[in-house]
Amino acid sequence: MAAVDNVIRGFASAVSPLAAALIDADSRSVPPALRARGNRLPIQKPIPLDRYYTAEYAALEKERLWKKVWQFACREEDIPNVGDRLPYTVGDLSFFVVRSAAREFRAFYNTCLHRGTRLCDGSGSGASVRCPFHAWEWNLDGSLKNIPSRWDFAAVNASDYRLPEVNVATWGGFIFINPDPNAPPLEAALGVLPEFFKDCAAEDRFTAFHVRKRVRANWKVTLEAFLEAYHVVETHSDSLVFTGDASTQYDIWDDGQAAISRLITPLGIPSPHLGDTASPTAAVDRAFEVFAMAMPGVPVPKFDPTSSLSGRGQVAEWRRQMLGAGLARDFSAWPDAAMLDSIQYFMFPNFCPWYGEGLPLVYQFLPYGTNPNESWMSIRLTAPLPGGGAPRPPSAPLIELDFDEPFSSKPEMGLLSLIFDQDMSNLPRVQAGIRGAATGHSHVTLGRYQEQRIQHFHEVLDKVLGG
Ligand code: FES
Ligand SMILES: [Fe+2]
Repeated sequence: MAAVDNVIRGFASAVSPLAAALIDADSRSVPPALRARGNRLPIQKPIPLDRYYTAEYAALEKERLWKKVWQFACREEDIPNVGDRLPYTVGDLSFFVVRSAAREFRAFYNTCLHRGTRLCDGSGSGASVRCPFHAWEWNLDGSLKNIPSRWDFAAVNASDYRLPEVNVATWGGFIFINPDPNAPPLEAALGVLPEFFKDCAAEDRFTAFHVRKRVRANWKVTLEAFLEAYHVVETHSDSLVFTGDASTQYDIWDDGQAAISRLITPLGIPSPHLGDTASPTAAVDRAFEVFAMAMPGVPVPKFDPTSSLSGRGQVAEWRRQMLGAGLARDFSAWPDAAMLDSIQYFMFPNFCPWYGEGLPLVYQFLPYGTNPNESWMSIRLTAPLPGGGAPRPPSAPLIELDFDEPFSSKPEMGLLSLIFDQDMSNLPRVQAGIRGAATGHSHVTLGRYQEQRIQHFHEVLDKVLGG
């Protein structure tokens, strides 16, 4: 346990050190980002529950959040060719992002200027954007191209009938939009991310699996379930044998413009909840098994007591060799932490890029339609681009799961599908419980350390909404 300012920063056991101590013991030199500590501890305050279900709060979010901030829309590889486009829909706001030239992206309101039809209803492609109703048509730069029966629209001039455009910017292959015409540059919202990801470049990765699920919970309930490892002890209790849940490190970087947070959950050690006599060998053996699940047919190693490497060092070294051989890339300098641990960043309001190969995911959270009790969660599994001059693999097609379809209906996800189903099982219960809370207890009570990222999220949300 490390205490600063009377805040206890994580709980260790005799066999399960804090994340920072494991990083100090890494077999490789560790980039400064993994040792960096946050600069913000949010003020502790109860979170009122009505913000999770009222139409009034959702309407405020639409006007002051979604129309005003930089937000993660999609990846460049989702629209690989000029003319490719994708909708980005937030509640009842909708935009579409288009690759308008080889290295140029644009985004527009997804509404026809004739009678309002949504222009882009799914992924599409073509040299122009054409409305399916009466065929009004725009060029990829948003300029008006054609109106059938042009003689009947004498009052329509081309300059007033460009498609209304919103800001677009990219980082690491991710495409962000901001509908606010006075938006600051994206860099202001990215904060530490470009610096912290520079040795694990997100642009050198591709989407190997992509699923999006409808969830019966407010988008913030869904997001918050993924910002802490505090729930592992109950929700994922079968992972305790190899997961340092209570030894997780949490950090927040907030400079007044960028709001970034991170968790580092070490793997290959037992949970501190299992006590001082838990088995480090079992933790290592289980970590080998779990990582081997993604490689059917590959023999699963076991902890080698004669090795000069630590248990975590052994798993990391095996991962370096397996991934290196599979991808024709050199992972020899990568730290153990980057090969094993769950290192998840969050950029306000809807974007979680993960760092390293431990759990290489990307999350996106969005309100779904006009019902504040429902949301979308999108999950990508990413992989490094293969080396040796191999071409960039195509982005995996998007799979959609409805409210009651479990992740385990998609066997491609392996063990992850079971973990996500465990997470999802809580969310409708949370949403139902929140709506029926006692008047005297209609707020969320957060842990000082382990749930600080949720506290900080609401601190920033309050600021953005002016509440
Ligand atoms: S509504 Fe789009 S062309 Fe008529
Ligand atoms: Fe979880």
